[in-house]
Amino acid sequence: MAKNADNKMERLVSLCKRRGFVFPSSEIYGGLNSCWDYGPLGAELKRNIKTFWWEAMTNRRDDVEGLDAAILMHPEVWRTSGHVDEFTDPLVDCKTCKARFREDELKDPTQCPKCGNKTLTDTRQFNLMFKTFMGPVADDSAVVFLRPETAQGIYVNFLNVKNSSRQKIPFGIAQIGKAFRNEITPGNFIFRTREFEQMEMQYFIAPEEDEKWFEYWKEQRWNWYLELGIREEKLRWHEHGADELAHYAKKAYDIEYEFPFGWKELEGVHNRTDFDLGRHHQATGKDMRYQDERFTEKFIPYIIETSAGCDRTLLTVLVDAYDEDPERGEKSTVLRFSPKIAPIKAAVFPLVKKDGMPEIAEKIYNDLRKNFNIFYDYRGSVGRRYARMDEAGCPFCFTIDGQTTEDDTVTIRDRDSMEQTRHKIAELSAFLKEKIV
Ligand code: GAP
Repeated sequence: MAKNADNKMERLVSLCKRRGFVFPSSEIYGGLNSCWDYGPLGAELKRNIKTFWWEAMTNRRDDVEGLDAAILMHPEVWRTSGHVDEFTDPLVDCKTCKARFREDELKDPTQCPKCGNKTLTDTRQFNLMFKTFMGPVADDSAVVFLRPETAQGIYVNFLNVKNSSRQKIPFGIAQIGKAFRNEITPGNFIFRTREFEQMEMQYFIAPEEDEKWFEYWKEQRWNWYLELGIREEKLRWHEHGADELAHYAKKAYDIEYEFPFGWKELEGVHNRTDFDLGRHHQATGKDMRYQDERFTEKFIPYIIETSAGCDRTLLTVLVDAYDEDPERGEKSTVLRFSPKIAPIKAAVFPLVKKDGMPEIAEKIYNDLRKNFNIFYDYRGSVGRRYARMDEAGCPFCFTIDGQTTEDDTVTIRDRDSMEQTRHKIAELSAFLKEKIV
């Protein structure tokens, strides 16, 4: 990793802790490797990202239904899906320095990248699923898995959702939820962790229409990142070669983002064919075949999956928004979040703590907070208050000054241009709504 890039990640991680976006998990006990907690601003940012996804993928569409399935599922699900046998990574250890690697990530599979010795063990396949026990007896019959993907919760509910919602093919089911993988090499802050959240949508289609819908969803998902405010030049497609394809996929493309530590996967769009429903059909004897007026012959639907990581999207949003702007002073950091997902939508400041300004500011704050996440601050100079809001990624600051008491106007300071314009108090709510929706 380039030194500068290293520094940028270090500065971002430190900003995240200082401003309450992301904290190391159980920090007062020394932390737990690769586990992170979202603080006040991070929790709000994450919630906004999930809402933004949910609205685009379900609420604003007639053909996609939502679902919230349990994390713990019948253990047979994972045998049927192939995860018990095939959800593995190739693990190698160095006999000299005891470091552990994923063999597929090594440049030279015979040499330890840490100590340089040619003392790597043979490759062992390591299953990534976490196991736990259900009930009081911890024996083999009580083993259950923490789900490694949310997708299976959707497949096992295919018939339930189809029948209760009366959807016809093509239609989709969307879900946001936690997934767990016992990753060999977690790291890069919240990029690869062992506990994470996925935002997945499975679209059920006729087999002969798979190419069409694959292209359609590729385009939808690309555009979603642009609407999220991510710079297009930082995004690219990567097609999976035969050696990269997951055991269930016929075709797969990743959307990648250029992180300070390189181009990395952000989301996968997969053609999973009839693999999943076909396997569950066989294993359970439940008829997963589909038929309606348009399709008179029964068939097992194909699935186009869009699978995004919520934490990885949040990291992308942070990296993409992070800017150090010398025009604002030496150490000035700005998070240029899109107002749509910014954790704080606006800050309200009385210029001084007298002349009726705090009373007007508090009224504006109390009115606006009914519909938006608003921050109120009266401490320190206005310049310091702007700087604090820049670091929190708040796009607008409303300042109540002497003129407010005369004509009911306030200044709106724009985070990105730093320009200030005057607006009527009565227009502030409409102003924010227009920027956010
Ligand atoms: N259901 C298909 C599936 O799970 P995947 O490519 O293994 O596909 C999809 O995962 C997305 O989930 C990834 O693109 C990434 O955003 C996120 N993801 C996967 N493993 C992760 C991890 N260990 N930490 C954080 N996010 C992860």
